[in-house]
Amino acid sequence: MSVDAYRLDGKRMLVTGAARGIGRAVALAAGRAGARVYGTDTRADELDETRRLLGDDAGHAVGVFDLRAAGEISRLCGDAARALGGLDSLACVAGVIVRRGDLDEVTEDDWDLQYAVNLKAVFFLNREAARLMRGPGSIVNFSSQGWWTGGYGGSVAYSATKAGVVALTRGLARTLAPRGIRVNAIAPGAVDTAMMNEGLDAGARESFLTQVPLGRMSRPEEQAHAAVFLASDASGYITGTTLNVSGGQLVY
Ligand SMILES: NC(=O)c1ccc[n+]([C@@H]2O[C@H](COP(=O)([O-])OP(=O)(O)OC[C@H]3O[C@@H](n4cnc5c(N)ncnc54)[C@H](O)[C@@H]3O)[C@@H](O)[C@H]2O)c1
Repeated sequence: MSVDAYRLDGKRMLVTGAARGIGRAVALAAGRAGARVYGTDTRADELDETRRLLGDDAGHAVGVFDLRAAGEISRLCGDAARALGGLDSLACVAGVIVRRGDLDEVTEDDWDLQYAVNLKAVFFLNREAARLMRGPGSIVNFSSQGWWTGGYGGSVAYSATKAGVVALTRGLARTLAPRGIRVNAIAPGAVDTAMMNEGLDAGARESFLTQVPLGRMSRPEEQAHAAVFLASDASGYITGTTLNVSGGQLVY
């Protein structure tokens, strides 16, 4: 296989969560690999910065959108396809975690928010993006190591949505394979982003890292490189899988 199979030249990719963290890293890595990127997020200023970092010359675009508006997701995908001249790829990176000290603190609102952003929106994004793909396509959905561990009392709702992403990915991989559209997931371990760092004190962080054989957090770029691989033709015979990118924290 030629090295070019690892590039994304000519591919047009919608990336959610593109304002910061892993989503921004995916947008930038895809852009460097040759893709034309449409980034979306609720954070307008940081999204503009992603747009600036993508550079001016390749027809990239961004648009502010709140993924809780599930009924508007077809419009978002349409906007992206219009801006890019079509759609070949989708990376669902946006996500939210509500950390609670224990089981008794978990509220119905916690459930509704995490379900809406982490799972329901991912389904409609997958379906609407697939509708717009005219040839072979690739979808990458971000799960979490929590899909396997189940998290702890205060984070079971988050983990359940991320297990849902794995199930959804498997089902849609089967459904969309006859149309040449591959659907895969990535399950990161601890990644050095605001999501990971905002909710953990130094002690909790250190104790978390003792579980990671590589002994450190992942850089967002390391998750992004996995996403570029799954979006590229180099992974052309891989669909329905969940790629474990956890530094050995989990081995399965
Ligand atoms: N950081 C980690 O350690 C880690 C571990 C496992 C899985 N993940 C997953 O990776 C993905 C990216 O995580 P991250 O660490 O970059 O998080 P992050 O909080 O840094 O970035 C998430 C992005 O999603 C956006 N977003 C949240 N709600 C949204 C909404 N309603 N509409 C549109 N955009 C919205 C945020 O504005 C933000 O830019 C998430 O799905 C997360 O669950 C992260």
